[in-house]
Amino acid sequence: MNEVVEKVLVSQEEIINRCVELGAQITEDYKKAGEVPYVVGLLKGSVPFLAEIIKHIDLDIQIDFMDVSSYEGTKSVGDIRIDKDLDCSVQGMSILLVEDIVDTGRTLKEVERTLLNKGAKDVKVVSLLDKPDRRVVDIEAEYVGFKIPNEFVIGYGLDYNQKYRNLPYIGVLKREIYE
Ligand code: IMP
Repeated sequence: MNEVVEKVLVSQEEIINRCVELGAQITEDYKKAGEVPYVVGLLKGSVPFLAEIIKHIDLDIQIDFMDVSSYEGTKSVGDIRIDKDLDCSVQGMSILLVEDIVDTGRTLKEVERTLLNKGAKDVKVVSLLDKPDRRVVDIEAEYVGFKIPNEFVIGYGLDYNQKYRNLPYIGVLKREIYE
């Protein structure tokens, strides 16, 4: 275990098993609806989760990535700047957004709004983690890997100062590292 990790919250095995379940659920739901989602990962945190979950989605999907930064303005609901946009138009598309974690929910809400404004037909969200206690805007992911308590976590895409994204598990960061 990495020395900055207090404890492992979700193991690699648990993540992979959950990706199998979520992939099957997503496959079933989209097949029922007669749709194939355009799978959009939010950089950089979604990369390991996206790479795992797409192996378990049995549909002829396309994948793409967006990179957004949020403005910490004076208003409680922030705005976002798109640093890397999608490769093609989303007009009329069903989008499946892939996120590492839903925390306050601000990022997802803004990305969802942006995609709908650009003409997406439908936006659903799959997130590896969910911290429901921290939510400040009204948004829920349709598919959630694990609900976790309000602790700062790293690994499987999640960073602290851009590091530890490559850990193969979700770990709680030791308080002494950031306090
Ligand atoms: P939100 O807009 O507050 O929901 O922020 C979501 C983003 O905050 C995630 O995509 C992460 O990049 C970051 N974040 C939130 N909680 C954590 C955490 O516990 N560890 C690492 N990054 C986090």
